[in-house]
Amino acid sequence: MYFVANWKMFGDLKGLNSLNNVINFVTRNERKNFKVVYCPPSTLIFSLSKKFKNTPIDLGGQNSHESENYGPYTGHINSKMLKDIGAKYLILGHSENRQCGENDKLINLKIKNGLKTGLKIIFCIGETLKEKKNNKTNQILSNQIKIGLNGIKNKSNIIIAYEPVWAIGTGLIPELSDLNNLIFFIKKKFKNKSQKVLYGGSVNENNINQLKTINNIDGFLVGAASQDAKKFIDIIKKTYN
Ligand code: PGA
Repeated sequence: MYFVANWKMFGDLKGLNSLNNVINFVTRNERKNFKVVYCPPSTLIFSLSKKFKNTPIDLGGQNSHESENYGPYTGHINSKMLKDIGAKYLILGHSENRQCGENDKLINLKIKNGLKTGLKIIFCIGETLKEKKNNKTNQILSNQIKIGLNGIKNKSNIIIAYEPVWAIGTGLIPELSDLNNLIFFIKKKFKNKSQKVLYGGSVNENNINQLKTINNIDGFLVGAASQDAKKFIDIIKKTYN
C-alpha cells in the first residue's frame, strides 16, 4: 500500500520536526510493507532528503516543467532538478494544476520527461462535479488516461491516483460502490493486472475505515490530513487494523 502525502503549498523548515514521529512509526512498522512518500513543496525536498536518509520514506515533487533540459523558464523547475535534490516520485496532472490550464497533452509531455529522468509518476485523474452529474465520469477518465499516457509503453513506473475533483478539500468522498466500480474500470484499462491505483480526495483518519475496504485499492493520496503527522499516522494505522 502507498500512503502519499501531498502537502501542496504548505509547510516550512520549522515544521519538519513533527515528522520525527512519522519516521519512528514507519521504521517500527517496516515489515508491514507499505510505502510512505512525502511530496512537500520543492523548497523542502532537500532538507527532507537529509532527514529521511536511512529511513524507508521516499520523497516526491508536486509538479515539474515539461522540459527535460535546463532552460530560460523563470520560476520553473524540471524533473531532473527534483531528482537531483532527492525526489524519487513526481505528482503530475493534479486537478489544481489542470485548473490552472494544464491539459492532457502537456501532462503527457511532463510524464514522459519525468519517466526519462527516472522518477516514478503519480498520475492524477478525476472528474469534476458537473462531469459526474452528466454521467461523463468514465469518458473523462478514459480520455485523461489515453492522452496522458499516449506513447508510453512501459507503465511500470506509473501509479494512477483517482481523485474526483469535487472530493478534493471538500470533506466529501464518493459512494463506496462507485469507488469500487471506478477503480475496477481504471484497472481494466491496463494490460498489466498489477497496475497500481490510489484513491485521493478528503482522505482522513475518520473515513479511512470505509476507504480501506475499496476492492484492490493500492493506497491513498492524502492532502490536508497529511500535514498533521498524527492524522497521517492514524490513517496508516487504521488501514491495517
Ligand atoms: P485533500 O487533497 O486530501 O485535502 O482532499 C487531496 C489531493 O489534492 O491530493
